[in-house]
Amino acid sequence: MNVTLTTSDLAHDKTPAASHPERTVDGLTRLHDAFEADLSRVNELIIERMDSPVAMIPQLARYVVAAGGKRLRPLLTLACADLAGYTGDRHYGLAACVEFIHTATLLHDDVVDDSSERRGKASANAVFGNQASVLVGDFLFTRAFELMVADGSLDVLSVLSKASATIAEGEVMQLATTNNIDTTEQQYLDVISGKTAVLFAAACEVGGLVAALPGDQAEKLRDFGHNLGMAFQLIDDVLDYGADRQDWGKEIGDDFREGKMTLPVVLAIDAAKANRDQQQVDFWQRTVGDLDQQDGDLDQAMAYLSQHGCLQRTRERAQQFATHAIAAIQAVKGEGQTHDLLIAAVSASIDRRY
Ligand code: IPE
Ligand code: IPE
Ligand code: MG
Ligand code: MG
Repeated sequence: MNVTLTTSDLAHDKTPAASHPERTVDGLTRLHDAFEADLSRVNELIIERMDSPVAMIPQLARYVVAAGGKRLRPLLTLACADLAGYTGDRHYGLAACVEFIHTATLLHDDVVDDSSERRGKASANAVFGNQASVLVGDFLFTRAFELMVADGSLDVLSVLSKASATIAEGEVMQLATTNNIDTTEQQYLDVISGKTAVLFAAACEVGGLVAALPGDQAEKLRDFGHNLGMAFQLIDDVLDYGADRQDWGKEIGDDFREGKMTLPVVLAIDAAKANRDQQQVDFWQRTVGDLDQQDGDLDQAMAYLSQHGCLQRTRERAQQFATHAIAAIQAVKGEGQTHDLLIAAVSASIDRRY
C-alpha cells in the first residue's frame, strides 16, 4: 500500500515555531513567501519522487518530510536561480534534489547521534528504528542522484555529487572529534564546513549554474552559501544548549549527552586550560570525554559556558561568517528584491530560534 501524499502535507507552517504565538515575520518567512509558488512545485516533485511500491519507504519518508522543516536549502537554489535571471524550470528538480540530500543526511544523522526528536516530533529512528532510517536515507540519496542525472548538466552533477561525498566526510570527521576534549577550533570548523556548509554552497551554486552565470559570479554564490552554512551550523550548535524548548523541535542538550565537540564546548575547554582550572578540565573529560554523566551535569556545563561567554562568542563567530555571506551576495549582479531577501535570510539564520 502506498501512502497518498499531498502538498498540504508539506506545508511550511508545520515547523515547530510556526505555532508559537510570538513568532514574527522574519527573513526566512519572507524568503519562503516570496518563492511560495516555486516551492510548491518543488514540494510536488518531492512527493512524486518519495513514492515507492515498498510501503515503508513512503511511510517513513512522509513522516519526516511532512513534519516540516524550513526548506532553506531548496529556497536558496530557487532564489539564487532567480537572482541570476533564470526563467526555465530546471531549478525545481535541483531544489528537490538538494532537499532530498538534506533529508537523507538527517535520517542518517539522527541514527548516528542517537537523537530522539526532529522537527517537533519523535525522530524517524525513534519511531521506525535505526535500520529503516538508514535504508530509507539511502533510498532518498538515490532519488537525489536520479534528479541530478535527469538535469543532464555535468557541471551540476559534479557540484552536487562532490557535495554529497563531502557531507559524508564531514560526518565521519566528526566521529573522530567526538569525545576528544583536545579538539581544536580549526578541526571543528573543518567538520562543519564538510557536514553542513558544503550543501548550502552547492544549493546556491547550482542556482547560478542553471542560469549559465559566468564562473566568477557562480563562485560568489558558492561563497555566499558556504558562509551562510557555517553561520547556520554555529547557531545550531548554540541553540543545542540555548534554545527555547517549545521553539527548537529537537532535544536540548543532545550535543552534550553525545560528547560532541561543538564550538561552545571547545571554547569552554580552552578557557579552562588557559586558566589552569583542573576542576573544569576534569569535568569536561568526565562528561564529554568519557560520557560519564550524572543528573545536573548539563546545568553545570551550561554554567561553565556562561562563565566563559562561550555561547555569545560562538554567536559572534557566526556573525563574522554572516558578514562574509552578505559581502559575497552583494558582489553578485542581479535585479529585483532577491538580493534583499537573501540578505534578510542571512540575518534570520543568525537570529533564528528553530
Ligand atoms: C538541520 O538543518 C541540520 C543542520 C545543518 C543544523 P535545518 O535546521 O535546516 O533542518 P530543517 O530542514 O529545518 O528541519
Ligand atoms: C548537522 O549536524 C547534520 C548534518 C548536516 C548531516 P547536527 O547533528 O548538529 O544536526 P542536528 O542538530 O541533529 O539537526
Ligand atoms: Mg544531529
Ligand atoms: Mg545540532
